[in-house]
Amino acid sequence: MTARRVATVLSIAWVLSWAPGCQSTDTLAPPWDAANPVRPIPPAPLGLESYLGPALAQLQPERVRLGRWLFYDTRLSADGTVSCATCHRPEHAFSEPTAVSSGVGNQRGRRKAPSFLNQAATLYPHFFWDGRAKSLEEQALGPIENPIEMGNTHDAMLAALSKIRGYQRYFNDAFGTTVITKDLVASAIADYERTRMSGNAPYDRWRITHDDTAVSADAKRGRDLFFGKAGCVQCHVGSNFTDSRFHNIGIGWDPEMGRFLDEGRFTVTHDPADRGAFKTPSLREVTRRAPYMHDGSVATLREVVKIYSRGGLVNPTLDPRVEPLALTDTEVDDLLAFLTSLEGEGYHDTPPTAFPQ
Ligand code: HEC
Ligand code: HEC
Repeated sequence: MTARRVATVLSIAWVLSWAPGCQSTDTLAPPWDAANPVRPIPPAPLGLESYLGPALAQLQPERVRLGRWLFYDTRLSADGTVSCATCHRPEHAFSEPTAVSSGVGNQRGRRKAPSFLNQAATLYPHFFWDGRAKSLEEQALGPIENPIEMGNTHDAMLAALSKIRGYQRYFNDAFGTTVITKDLVASAIADYERTRMSGNAPYDRWRITHDDTAVSADAKRGRDLFFGKAGCVQCHVGSNFTDSRFHNIGIGWDPEMGRFLDEGRFTVTHDPADRGAFKTPSLREVTRRAPYMHDGSVATLREVVKIYSRGGLVNPTLDPRVEPLALTDTEVDDLLAFLTSLEGEGYHDTPPTAFPQ
């Protein structure tokens, strides 16, 4: 038989295997199966074992596999052009290299797409720059219905997914049902996100396995500044370098108008003290996601450090932990070397080459 004939026979056999009462679905894999096999849950990388380990132990490989397809599938959007990965790109540590995002019809949002590495665990459950979602599941449903992101309705998204027959077996493997609901979609995507991690960075190898050659002398001095005189650790704390809380460091303050262009956490709490406060981002893989801050207004990491050195952007509700540091050029370089030593591994992925049909 020619290769083409074999393929045809296999496809027909696969279609027939869906006939009611047929038992062979488990033995015959559809053609796109190999593009996204069930993989064991990856272990937490060095530096994150105790932080992420317990949460990873709860994950199921079949759910993560399904979530991986859904995350990269443009058919979740209104016009079939945008997936989660359009804005959260693996090569940029699941952020993107533009200040603000463009979604369906190239409409632009007003905030920078944040990274979501190491979020299987979090000190406080706050998602989005203003913390308006309480879980990754709740978060995942937001962009699907956001008119300028994926521009869909949940009903239309579910109708589209339910028509893709090939997805049924994966919902069944993951959740024991072929009835697709928005909660199952969110749950699978969230579990895929939980497996995107960053650790085993030169910094971890130096601090944990005591490999003294893993980082430069500059990075070691930068580490001392970060945890000492520069006071960065007051907010960028713990294995993931974030307190998951909200602080005003002055980004987005317009001194002429005397107001914030984006009020951040205030829009959720309506507490005047929260005006201009945003969630502290993790600093892992920070070199891979310029431009910086919630509005992408700071082009380089060096400029970020210089803003801190000047004491943030002064405004009436500036966080008192941000004070002028008057760093020397060498100290700025040292902090940059430290931040670069947080480039690790565990998040890389490429979109699956085939999707259920
Ligand atoms: C058009 C671009 C775009 C698309 C498409 C998009 N996002 Fe986002 N995402 C953003 C932006 C911008 C933010 C920040 C919004 C805010 O804070 O108000 C964000 C925030 C997030 C966060 C919060 C991270 C944190 O630390 O708080 C997660 C998680 C996330 N998105 C996952 C997803 C998932 C899952 C999908 C697909 C269902 C998706 N995104 C689709 C742009 C996008
Ligand atoms: C008072 C708490 C606080 C302190 C102290 C602090 N940060 Fe931040 N950091 C934040 C917050 C909040 C943001 C996000 C602000 C925004 O987007 O409006 C941020 C953003 C950043 C970013 C940009 C990351 C990104 O993904 O856009 C870097 C880099 C950074 N900080 C490094 C540092 C360094 C280095 C220090 C010490 C010199 C420091 N931070 C001190 C709270 C703090």
